[in-house]
Amino acid sequence: MLREPPVTDTSTETGGRWSLPQGFRDPRDAPVVDDVLELVGGTPLVRVNRLAPDAPGTIYVKLDQFNIGGSSKDRIGVNIVRSAIAAGELAEGQRIVDFGAGNTAIGYALAGLATGHPVTIVANATLSPEKANLLRFLGADIVPGRNDVPTDHPENWEAIAARYEREDPSNWWARQASTAYNPSSHEESTGPEIWEQTAGGVSHWIAAVATGGTVSGTGRYLRSRRPDLQIIATDWTEKVDKSNLRAYFERRDGWQELERDFPENIDLDLIDRIETRSKAEVIDYGWHVARTEGLVLGPTSILSLLVAVELAKEVDPGSVIVSFSADSGRDYVTREYNPDWLRANGFSEIADKYVPAP
Ligand SMILES: Cc1ncc(COP(=O)(O)O)c(C=O)c1O
Repeated sequence: MLREPPVTDTSTETGGRWSLPQGFRDPRDAPVVDDVLELVGGTPLVRVNRLAPDAPGTIYVKLDQFNIGGSSKDRIGVNIVRSAIAAGELAEGQRIVDFGAGNTAIGYALAGLATGHPVTIVANATLSPEKANLLRFLGADIVPGRNDVPTDHPENWEAIAARYEREDPSNWWARQASTAYNPSSHEESTGPEIWEQTAGGVSHWIAAVATGGTVSGTGRYLRSRRPDLQIIATDWTEKVDKSNLRAYFERRDGWQELERDFPENIDLDLIDRIETRSKAEVIDYGWHVARTEGLVLGPTSILSLLVAVELAKEVDPGSVIVSFSADSGRDYVTREYNPDWLRANGFSEIADKYVPAP
């Protein structure tokens, strides 16, 4: 399905001027751009070869860590900032404020540097040291917040972002959880990329949800091209139940009265299934995937890949499953992919399995 790069260039057009090491990409595919922000989007798909070798379905992973800031959130950070400037919502000199796990903040930081806006991110304790250091390196401020308390709690990360905007008009809250510029980034870029890369063959789209922008925006585009496309959202078991996402999705008795503790950008009418897995299962699989496929993926990417591998065994032959990778496992080598962290955080069995104590 994907174009194989030539090992040796034999074209008369280039005069056969190079001989590529096996599997290396054609030099003519290497981009030259005028600005850092042009290195957002156009990320590769890689086929999964060894995790489910005899399955009828084929799995590809969309590697969005290839964006310049290292995650899918470059797409939304850049698009939110540019769109808000164009619409007159973000005025010159205003500070961009939002809450999140760090990836969007890196996108905001890059867009902010290009457009002259400083950035403050309200982050909780799960912000990885790699991302925190990168944000500081890029000049962003990090304010501690919590997502384990309700939004009316003063330490809640969303409440803090809202307070920043309310109390100081020089702050502008970017609202990644509800702004339409988030899913539209994916509807206008990630979706068309996957459609083109699979030559319209994609049959299943799987992505983890936080704000829901990725699964919804990409899903909306792909569904518009292929009405029978299956859209599967993945998330942590504990989080989905706590936020009432599953109760809403399944329209369980009394769902209208429940507190809706999940973002507006999760489009429940679009999603066919919500699959959840535990943290321990996913971390373990992350180590397995790295050592089996050589694919180094962040935990949410592994969560989706785990679901994709199970699905690949059930689907009709010819099915093409695209599983989304939001960021790289490199951002987690001091946490989930570190035996010391695992042992200190209740995951000793995983540490012992992959890095046996001497
Ligand atoms: C690592 C990672 N995975 C998955 C997601 C989910 O993406 P979305 O917010 O589009 O649902 C995010 C976004 O917050 C993320 O940072």
